[in-house]
Amino acid sequence: MAYFGLFTLLATQSVVIGATFPDKTITEWSVNMYNHLRATGEDENIIFSPLSIALAMGVMELGAQGSTLKEIRHSMGYDGLINGEEISFLKDISNMISAEKSQYVMKIANSLFVQDGFHINDEFLQMMKKCLNAEVHHVDFSQNVAVTNYINKWVENYTNSLLKDLVSPRDFDAATHLALINAVYFKGNWKSQFRPENTRTFSFTKDDESEVQIPMMYQQGEFYYGEFSDGSNEAGGIYQVLELPYETDDLSMFLVLSRQEVPLATLEPLLKPQLIEEWANSVKKQKVEVYLPRFTVEQEIDLKDIFKALGVNEIFIRDANLTAMSDKKELFLSKVVHKSFIEVNEEGTEAAAASGITAISRMAVLYPQIIVDHPFLFFVRSKISGLIMFMGRVMHPETMNTSGHDFEEL
Ligand SMILES: *[C@@H]1O[C@H](CO)[C@@H](O)[C@H](O)[C@H]1NC(C)=O
Ligand SMILES: *[C@@H]1O[C@H](CO)[C@@H](O)[C@H](O)[C@H]1NC(C)=O
Ligand SMILES: *[C@@H]1O[C@H](CO)[C@@H](O)[C@H](O)[C@H]1NC(C)=O
Repeated sequence: MAYFGLFTLLATQSVVIGATFPDKTITEWSVNMYNHLRATGEDENIIFSPLSIALAMGVMELGAQGSTLKEIRHSMGYDGLINGEEISFLKDISNMISAEKSQYVMKIANSLFVQDGFHINDEFLQMMKKCLNAEVHHVDFSQNVAVTNYINKWVENYTNSLLKDLVSPRDFDAATHLALINAVYFKGNWKSQFRPENTRTFSFTKDDESEVQIPMMYQQGEFYYGEFSDGSNEAGGIYQVLELPYETDDLSMFLVLSRQEVPLATLEPLLKPQLIEEWANSVKKQKVEVYLPRFTVEQEIDLKDIFKALGVNEIFIRDANLTAMSDKKELFLSKVVHKSFIEVNEEGTEAAAASGITAISRMAVLYPQIIVDHPFLFFVRSKISGLIMFMGRVMHPETMNTSGHDFEEL
């Protein structure tokens, strides 16, 4: 087949540069970012896209020079690379994402919005377009309502109307000169789909022990699955990890689930780049019964605080060296907004690889069961390159019905 998916190509690419591209470092700041969101966001759902954020930072790298550039590269873990090497990698990713595919839909809108009157260097504009498929738009931030409409329309157009109302007038004022907007939508088809007729209403127990009714999908099949110890003695200290492959083989979603009586907060501190590797390497193909909520999760993140926490400061201050972007002084980044959206449902383009059993039974446990009826972690990862496309957690599944699917109450 002549089809080359994003990560098939990434794999090909990794033959050339994979040995040096620090996907491990990206995993590292992703975990740091997750921890930061967890610490500041109380018990909310979380989702962000490390891949897309790396592309957004690529824009700032192209515009930065001197100590500002050095700081970004250091914080992103690019110190070990030759200058600009990461840009060629990001360029490949960006090209592959914008190519049309049937197995999954991924839309990334990545652009700078600059105050009218700031001249932007042509070379920077060309590099943005060529390397990162990103654009520069001139706006008048003092007209904050008009700017908001403009940016939201732009994002909507780039994401086939899937991401709406990204920014609000509160985000801008006359002091804003530069805003970076990064939005990403993803929907993949499962390699082995869930049959809609097997979806039932289930109780989901939150960490505060309240319950909500959610649509629970079901299937039994061969998946990569593992049980791991969290080091506690209680009930063997076991938690479960399941890898659900997307149709484009090299991409899969990992679900990490604590025992029913254990809040996710006891599992989260374990999260480390090495552990993610270990999960990915240790899960074994076996027959598993899977109960997974149908869910949609989206989150809008002001990346400024998070970047600061990761050590990126200079681009946000008056002394920022953005001379590759514009000769004009006093240009610095005021706002970085990142929004991710991911949808998980039964769909696949092929009928499920038939497993005759359709009845749901929690009694006869013939195979390992993973019943995702309480808060869980998830991430979408390339098997081959190890790059993480999305990372997050689901604490409140009932807030995830933005896609408007109905389901039968059975
Ligand atoms: C920005 O960095 C470049 C390259 O190091 C340097 O030549 C230039 O003087 C710096 N400009 C400012 C305004 O700091
Ligand atoms: C809308 O998005 C498409 C790409 O999805 C782009 O080619 C086009 O220029 C965009 N239109 C506007 C008005 O931004
Ligand atoms: C689910 O979506 C509907 C409209 O699509 C909305 O009215 C309802 O409040 C949503 N439920 C929750 C719990 O968010």
